[in-house]
Amino acid sequence: MPKNRCFQGIWASPWVFIFAATGSAVGLGNLWKFPYMMGENGGGAFLFVYILCLLLVGLPVLIAEVALGRTVRSNPIDTVNDLSERHIIAKGWVALPWLAGLVGFLIFSFYSVIAGWCLSYFKRAITGEFDAINLPKSQFIFDEMLAKPEEMAIWNSVFLALVILAVGQSVTRGLAKLVKLLLPVLIILLITLSFYSLQVGDVAQTIDFLFGWKWSDITFDVVLAAVGHAFFSLSIGMGAMFAYGAYMSKHMSIARACSIVVGLDLLVALLAGLIIFPLVFAYDLNVASGPSLTFVSLPIVFGAIQGGQLLGGLFFTLMIIAALTSAISMLELFVAWLHERFAMDRFKAAIISTTAAWFLGLAVILSFNDWSDFKILGMTLFELLDSLTSLVMLPISAIVLTLLVAWFIPQNVWQKELITRNAKHFSWWYVTLKYISLPAMLLIAVTGWLGA
Ligand code: PHE
Repeated sequence: MPKNRCFQGIWASPWVFIFAATGSAVGLGNLWKFPYMMGENGGGAFLFVYILCLLLVGLPVLIAEVALGRTVRSNPIDTVNDLSERHIIAKGWVALPWLAGLVGFLIFSFYSVIAGWCLSYFKRAITGEFDAINLPKSQFIFDEMLAKPEEMAIWNSVFLALVILAVGQSVTRGLAKLVKLLLPVLIILLITLSFYSLQVGDVAQTIDFLFGWKWSDITFDVVLAAVGHAFFSLSIGMGAMFAYGAYMSKHMSIARACSIVVGLDLLVALLAGLIIFPLVFAYDLNVASGPSLTFVSLPIVFGAIQGGQLLGGLFFTLMIIAALTSAISMLELFVAWLHERFAMDRFKAAIISTTAAWFLGLAVILSFNDWSDFKILGMTLFELLDSLTSLVMLPISAIVLTLLVAWFIPQNVWQKELITRNAKHFSWWYVTLKYISLPAMLLIAVTGWLGA
């Protein structure tokens, strides 16, 4: 039996799982990273490869992670411990949840810094700081923010306080209520903003950019970027979906729930593109400007457009909500473990985890200014954490998880867990996971590492 002292319960309706998992998946990855990655990687070509990666790798691995979470109904660390105590797998597999938790924690430390930028930009947008700015002025505002560690640390702390308030809640009541409230707000904001953007922006160029591409646009780098982003965007390999899977009702089909989550995640990424690109094209800005697309290019539009203060305010509210519902899931593995294993209050567990992340976040903040000359492998701490997690740790964690589910835990465990009235669907998932997702991940990761 798992040493689960505090069983946290099961979500009352299957939809709560879908809301929570979609809240985790939809985040800065969709609103900030996806549009700029598309911009940098040839638009439609990236989108095409990304959709293939979602279907052939993302969805099967997501199903595997959630199913693993639901087998024992415990936090990821104790789930693996339990499976090994029952001699289903070897003890050493417990390294997997620890690695996943560590990746989640490291990502959280810099993700929350960027969420802090969103809070700061929300204030700037509604106070009219972007009024009539041009590109150099917008760049100046961004650089000035990065140059001030105290200011960034304050915004980061505000965001972390929000996270503590959210994660400290009970899973079945507090967390469930929160995601049920925030997700619809997020969707309404997305639809309103994209509607507005399509009215005032350049739709023709956007359609051309999103759907017009040539085979020659698809390079190995595009594939690498797309598969890495599919993991990040679906929150795979970081223990988040593993932990949420434990609270999912046994009556729900995991495959169906995960397909809905993947569909919504893709839809939100596309809507983010439909908000950002029409504006960027209409104002003749550079789509390939990279990470600064949201923080440097968009404010120029907000400053130029009628009602831009409101538009900008709504846009950054959207980013903050999306970041919050993702950030809470990154800490769930450790918070659930501390709560279930040591009967620690969730609130206390949330404070401990966020405080640790706050210190690392401070180092990340300083890597933009006072410590920017301090480089490891030629990268600042922020760049190092970003590359290390997304290019090395995350693929390893996802590969190990897939190996465990597809090759080491007996198939009948999954047959029971995945309640498939339809045997064909089960074999489709199992065969894809074993013979397509896993080899594809190995091939892409190893080739990427050798080429790096
Ligand atoms: N999927 C989230 C996003 O797209 C990021 C995330 C990573 C969330 C890991 C949870 C765990 O922004």
